[in-house]
Amino acid sequence: MSLLRRTQRLLNLSSKYVSRNCRCLSDGTQLTSRRDKIKQGPSLKEFIIGDSEPVLLDRPHIPYLPENVTFGSNRKVYFDVYGCQMNLNDTEIVWSILKKEGFEKTEIEEEADIFLVMTCAIREGAESKIWHRLDHLRGFKRRRAQKNKDRPVKIGLLGCMAERLKTKLIEKEKAVDVVAGPDSYRDLPRLLALTESGQTAVNVLLSLDETYADVMPVRLNQDSVSAFISIMRGCDNMCTYCIVPFTRGRERSRPLRSIVDEARLLADRGVKEITLLGQNVNSYRDTRENPEDKERLDTQLAKGFKTVYKSKKGGLRFADLLDEVSAAVPDMRVRFTAAHPKDFPDEVLQVISERPNICKLLHLPAQSGSTTVLERMRRGYSREAYLQLVDHVKNTIPGVGLSTDMICGFCGETDEEFEETMTLMQEVDYNIAFLFPYSMREKTAAHRRYKDDVPDSIKKLRHNRMIQLYRTKSQALNQSEIGNTHLVLIEGTAPKTGQLLGRNEFYMKVVFDQCEIESQDGGRVNMKPGDFVAVRITGAKSSVLTGVPMYHSSVREFYRDVSWGERHMLRV
Ligand code: 5AD
Ligand code: SF4
Repeated sequence: MSLLRRTQRLLNLSSKYVSRNCRCLSDGTQLTSRRDKIKQGPSLKEFIIGDSEPVLLDRPHIPYLPENVTFGSNRKVYFDVYGCQMNLNDTEIVWSILKKEGFEKTEIEEEADIFLVMTCAIREGAESKIWHRLDHLRGFKRRRAQKNKDRPVKIGLLGCMAERLKTKLIEKEKAVDVVAGPDSYRDLPRLLALTESGQTAVNVLLSLDETYADVMPVRLNQDSVSAFISIMRGCDNMCTYCIVPFTRGRERSRPLRSIVDEARLLADRGVKEITLLGQNVNSYRDTRENPEDKERLDTQLAKGFKTVYKSKKGGLRFADLLDEVSAAVPDMRVRFTAAHPKDFPDEVLQVISERPNICKLLHLPAQSGSTTVLERMRRGYSREAYLQLVDHVKNTIPGVGLSTDMICGFCGETDEEFEETMTLMQEVDYNIAFLFPYSMREKTAAHRRYKDDVPDSIKKLRHNRMIQLYRTKSQALNQSEIGNTHLVLIEGTAPKTGQLLGRNEFYMKVVFDQCEIESQDGGRVNMKPGDFVAVRITGAKSSVLTGVPMYHSSVREFYRDVSWGERHMLRV
């Protein structure tokens, strides 16, 4: 985009921003003409985004906000998290920012001064749940206002739905006080401070470079044995059905060093498993380090995968990151999600196959089994290319597990096209599958280009058929594990039975009874959350395995002397 056009866009944005948010002005002035709006509002500088000018520095000067506002003052925040793992991690970033400013956290509604709802916009169903929650919060706020005038409740909506609906949220839902998009969490203390004087505050600017690399997330559940690390934000893929590029903005990667440091810190704090998060981890690239000598030859195009955006050149890639992280924390399990099938370089498969602590479960979201649907979805691969990749992955990492996302009922999906999704699911043995009926989202290319013409009743039928097939197949897959020994990381206890509950390498739940088993130094001890235990599988359903615990172990010890192919078959 030319500098002139970019400047015009930013001017437009700044004028829109001021006019829609006139309640934000500290002196209460009502703005009149468009020119006045621009003059009195924040300068263009405040909206420039890019490498040279970060949008929000620590405690930025923002003209429409009063100076010297007190931020936290021990106000208690109640978090509600909807959506994906990335949202959970974002909430931990938000909590880290607020904690530093003197806010407190509560899990009791009655104690809360502020409700922050981390929202999801990926499907209509996700948004409906949040509207219901807002109904409840509106009532709570009203009752508090009647009961206790000195302790008003404030409501903030954060994340993707906030970004999607922007100020429309406040117009539609008068109870909302703060709207903050995924790139404006550093601004939250100020936005919340503004609400103390009854103002409504909105910041939905997307950034080109915000990665929150310097914010160490504070985990909401300190007892959890696993943690998430965001390695990148945004998505540049523009699959035609997906709202994510519009709500989370352009793709940007966090510096490799900050990720490795965070992994080490978590290991020091006793965390046993980390999941590296990104919308498309295989396009991770840290161009700040070693830009020349780590250049990779991109062979993907030759294998039948194409990409809609110009790939960035140079820098350290996901294989380098996996290599460094897994070496830095050899006693921790390392997982990652999600990987776009069009971007799967051999180097990544190589690192996974070599490192015992990288879980051998690959999330390869197919989305559909039909080449024509995949074309309409703009996924950049055909059914054949996907199946070839599956073969290649299986040959490179024997015994590898696979998971997927599938959508049924996408625009124009015929019975024949849907049957191709069913045959793909039949052909590929997925250990885990996330199955969705298509939900049309405004702004997406599909919304502009296609008709959401598969009736809801058909979507439902197709969805049920996918679920049924997946259950039958995963039950059979799980049953084939009976007699094998799995390394299980204990997470806690199963709510219904009180048995111990953990996960195997394929993220499948495994339950077993508490008892004393052999410890690593030869004694006999009970098991507890955070322990790695070798468990012999004795029973299987479609989503849970049962077993008998054998002995305490560790990632290093369990896999010592056995290659991955053998260890999967380990029978005792
Ligand atoms: N409708 C249904 N499912 C969707 N997903 C993304 N957008 C939509 C949509 N509009 C699914 C994809 C993606 C997962 C996170 O959500 O399968 O991989
Ligand atoms: Fe959405 Fe496609 Fe990006 Fe995944 S890769 S977040 S489906 S646009």
